[in-house]
Amino acid sequence: MMTEATKARFAREVAKYPADQKQSAVMACLSIVQQEEGWVSAENEAIIADYLGMPQIAVHEVTTFYNMYNQQPTGKYKLNVCTNLPCQLRDGYKALHHLESKLGIKMGETTADGMFTLQQSECLGACADSPVMLVNDRCMCSFMTNEKLDELVDGLRAAEGQA
Ligand code: FES
Repeated sequence: MMTEATKARFAREVAKYPADQKQSAVMACLSIVQQEEGWVSAENEAIIADYLGMPQIAVHEVTTFYNMYNQQPTGKYKLNVCTNLPCQLRDGYKALHHLESKLGIKMGETTADGMFTLQQSECLGACADSPVMLVNDRCMCSFMTNEKLDELVDGLRAAEGQA
């Protein structure tokens, strides 16, 4: 069920485009749903499809193309480590494997306490800063040595009173 507040946010995005091109607001609507619920469910894809007058599969194609859209619930902190080729050549996998070891989870999993989700990411456009990662789709972290990865995780745990 979409709330009136969500409908109002959708309407503001749709109003930015010509009336016959409201599908252009699909990414914004997906972002709104993710901000409000933390992830994009098939049910919400259907609601957006209906709202924008487009096939549900077309909405799903957008959700699955961009890896910032979460297709399942994630932990409070989503850690995306770039493992595209340039980063692979400069310790991208080493950073990913270090986080797997530190968090006790595999790539794609969430820690049992719901604090961290670990994922791979496509190129973040900062290959020269490798290893690079993104925290919660917003905070870019560069030159992530094992020591810096430990500081990041320990700092986030401390901030949550878990240290
Ligand atoms: S390949 Fe990792 S930032 Fe470009």
